[in-house]
Amino acid sequence: MPLPIILDTDPGIDDAAAIAAALFSPALDLQLITTVAGNVSVEKTTRNALQLLHFWQADVPVAQGASTPLLRPARDAAYVHGESGMEGYPFVEHRRQTLDKPALLAIRDALINAPEPVTLVAIGPLTNIALLLIQYPACREKIRRLVIMGGSAGRGNFTPTGEFNIAIDPEAAARVFASGLEIVMCGLDVTNKAVLAPEFLASLPGLNRTGKMLHALFSHYRSGSMSTGLRMHDLCAIAWLARPELFTLKPCFVAVETEGRWTAGTTVVDIDGRYEQPANVQVALDLDVEGFRGWVAEVLALAP
Ligand code: RIB
Ligand code: CA
Repeated sequence: MPLPIILDTDPGIDDAAAIAAALFSPALDLQLITTVAGNVSVEKTTRNALQLLHFWQADVPVAQGASTPLLRPARDAAYVHGESGMEGYPFVEHRRQTLDKPALLAIRDALINAPEPVTLVAIGPLTNIALLLIQYPACREKIRRLVIMGGSAGRGNFTPTGEFNIAIDPEAAARVFASGLEIVMCGLDVTNKAVLAPEFLASLPGLNRTGKMLHALFSHYRSGSMSTGLRMHDLCAIAWLARPELFTLKPCFVAVETEGRWTAGTTVVDIDGRYEQPANVQVALDLDVEGFRGWVAEVLALAP
């Protein structure tokens, strides 16, 4: 039985690959996409999500979410994904619209109407998830678990110690990590290993129209390169859901720094239990890279 999921995302070129996998993995049932400001503005991430769903003629509702972090000014990663957030492919015009309710209400209604608790997947800043928990705390009971791409037990990629999704909205991440939700964290410790090899990237245009489109986007994606390999950060969150055996997890106490002038947005991952605090996050510390690559090839071959 495919696992129902709700995906909160900031497309974003690696988000596009994650959305493809979420749509075409037989293990998953993508029920709702919500968008958040992150890689680019929420207007652009929403437009990008709609373009992708139109490309695949996928019948998945989209609801627009937060336009800024909880407290801090918005920043972006256009230097990685291009000004549009999904540079490189000429998506056709379409008339697809978002739901006429904001992301928070869309997630709340989906959770209320679900017969069983639903898995949330967040592959952008955690602003929408934090707002959901603040405004509708009863929803927590209907969330089976939260799987994120975010954080790092080691160095960062947006600040010296902060991974982008966390560092954009540290206050949101701190609220989510302290919420008591069951959380699986796919951070840079595994996503920096999740590299698609140049040979595979070169084979994409011949795979199918999805491969052709992703190849065009990947040619503009700056987390690695087509000649050395590209880091598929967001795909890891989907991969864990479809193939958890590819990952090595460790239950850890994780706190998010929000005060430090130089360290705000750092996920402090207490791997050795120094603080003697109960573990609140399952942290992915290792990845079967060849198994991941095999899964990516398999799932993208299922796309049109
Ligand atoms: O650090 C990588 C994360 O930041 C990914 O989710 C990427 O899409 C960007 O949002
Ligand atoms: Ca993302």
